[in-house]
Amino acid sequence: MNIIVTDTSDQAFRYAASMIADRIRSFPTTVLGLATGRTMESIYRLLVQQHDGGALDFSGTTSFNLDEYVGLGAADPNSYRHYMREHLFAHVNMSAERAHVPDGVAADLAAECARYEAAIRASGGIDLQLLGIGETGHIGFNEPPSAFDSRTRVVDLDEVTRRQNSAMFSGDPERVPERALTMGVGTILEARHLLLVAVGEGKAAIINEALNGPISENVSATAIKLHDNVTVILDKAAARSR
Ligand code: GLP
Repeated sequence: MNIIVTDTSDQAFRYAASMIADRIRSFPTTVLGLATGRTMESIYRLLVQQHDGGALDFSGTTSFNLDEYVGLGAADPNSYRHYMREHLFAHVNMSAERAHVPDGVAADLAAECARYEAAIRASGGIDLQLLGIGETGHIGFNEPPSAFDSRTRVVDLDEVTRRQNSAMFSGDPERVPERALTMGVGTILEARHLLLVAVGEGKAAIINEALNGPISENVSATAIKLHDNVTVILDKAAARSR
């Protein structure tokens, strides 16, 4: 595992964005695994800047997002499909057909999960998977406990997560959907390279547990220790208790 600790959060975002951009420049048909959350917003902003400056061409790329809230469609400002459009898809030249987000309003959610897994496989698999980390140690929305061989499925969101993400729902955890679709831990572990980014002291405790604690299905992020090609980018606040 390659752990990079930067002085500032901005440096962490720049490091992550340049790794993603370098990958796309070297392999224009890269299959990206994308994440949401506040951490990723700055990374996407930097990628959009590079694209605007003519230095980054997304036309050959394919992407698969990690997760989506059940019940929120593309028009809902809190859906991850909407988030991705706002922060990345609308601003770069990615093909709309190849920018995949699980469909949280599918009539048959189990069928949607199976379809999503099949689409990832049909694309040849994810080359570079971007990951954030939630307070529960989740990657994607793999709340504890999540089996390390779990696949894309419907999950119940932890109360901690609903509280953590409530800022986007007028500060009211009750308004955060109770369920989500998420790639499984097993799905994530099949990506060829994992890139986990965490900044700020609010992440220090869970980062410490994820990187230094025992490998456990009760902390999904510990699964990355089972992967042989992982980059973790932290600012020094998030790395504090390492
Ligand atoms: C959500 C996403 C996770 C992400 C987490 C971190 O819960 N489902 O994939 O890792 O947010 O969020 P933030 O970057 O806002 O701390």
